[in-house]
Amino acid sequence: MYSFWFLLCALLLLQTAHGQLASESEELEIEGRTNFDDYLREVMEFLRLQMPCGYAPAGIPPLVPLYAPYREVEWITSKSEIRGNVTELTVTGLDEFDIRELHYNNLLRRVRYDLNFPEILFTGDYKTDIITKLFGPKVHVYGDGELHLTLKNLRIYGSFIVRPKASGTMKLTKFKATTELGGVESELTGIMNSPTMAKFFNAWIEEFINQTFNDSEKEVDAALQRWFVPLATKALDEVSVIGLVALMLGVIEGTLPQETLC
Ligand SMILES: *[C@@H]1O[C@H](CO)[C@@H](O)[C@H](O)[C@H]1NC(C)=O
Ligand SMILES: *[C@@H]1O[C@H](CO)[C@@H](O)[C@H](O)[C@H]1NC(C)=O
Ligand SMILES: *[C@@H]1O[C@H](CO)[C@@H](O)[C@H](O)[C@H]1NC(C)=O
Repeated sequence: MYSFWFLLCALLLLQTAHGQLASESEELEIEGRTNFDDYLREVMEFLRLQMPCGYAPAGIPPLVPLYAPYREVEWITSKSEIRGNVTELTVTGLDEFDIRELHYNNLLRRVRYDLNFPEILFTGDYKTDIITKLFGPKVHVYGDGELHLTLKNLRIYGSFIVRPKASGTMKLTKFKATTELGGVESELTGIMNSPTMAKFFNAWIEEFINQTFNDSEKEVDAALQRWFVPLATKALDEVSVIGLVALMLGVIEGTLPQETLC
C-alpha cells in the first residue's frame, strides 16, 4: 500500500518549488493548489494500477494480491492472548480503495488523506492457540483450519508531512492515522474440531476485532504507524528527489501510464 506514498511525496516537493515561484500572486497559488490535488489523485490512480508490481528497491512486495508463505501472529490484550501462524496468507482488496479526501497544504507541506477500503479479504491456512479471560476464567482454545476473514469499509484517514533531506532524498514526518472499521466477517474452520465451536468463535472473533478497532483506537493507530513509517522511510530513502521530479514532470505533462507496468 505504501508504494504510492513515495510518488506522492515527489509530487509534493515539486509543488513546493512551484508554490515558491507563484507566491507573488495569491490567486495563482489557489488555482495551483486545486490543480495539484487533482495531480495527487492521478498519481494515486497510477499507484493503484502498479500495486500488483510492488517496488523491489524498497523491498515492497506485490500488493495485489499480497501474499506471504508463512506469517506468525501474536496479538495480546488485557483479556486475550492470541498466538499462531498462517501459511499461504493471501490478502486481496488493497487496490479497491475509494479516495474520499486527498489534499496538500502548501504552507504546512502537509497531506491530508482519507481512504476507504470497501472489502479486504484474508485467506490462508491457520493454526492458533488462544488463551482468553473474556468469559471469566481462563479458557484455552485451539484452531487448525482455513482462515477466511473479511474487513468491510476499513477507513484510514490522517495526515503526514514530507520534507527534503540534505542527502537529496525525502523524509516523512508526523504520520498520523486513524482507522475505522465498518464491519468484520469471520468464517474460520477447524476450531476445536467442532462446527458449533467454530460458529461460536467466529462470532467472538468478529466481536474481538470490532472491539479492538473501536476501543483500542490508539493501539491500532500506533501499530499502523510502527508498520508503515519504517517502510515509507525506506522507500523514500531509495528515491532521489531529482529522479522523482523528472518522473513527475511526466505526470504533469499528462503522460502517466494508464496500465500496469509489470
Ligand atoms: C504455528 O502455531 C501453532 C499454534 O500456536 C504452533 O503449535 C506451531 O508450532 C506453529 N508453527 C510454527 C512453524 O511455529
Ligand atoms: C461492533 O460493535 C458495536 C457495539 O460495540 C455494534 O453496535 C456493531 O454492530 C458492531 N459491528 C460489527 C460489524 O460487528
Ligand atoms: C465506536 O466507538 C464510538 C465512540 O468512541 C462510537 O461512537 C461508535 O458508535 C462505536 N462504533 C462501533 C461500531 O462500535
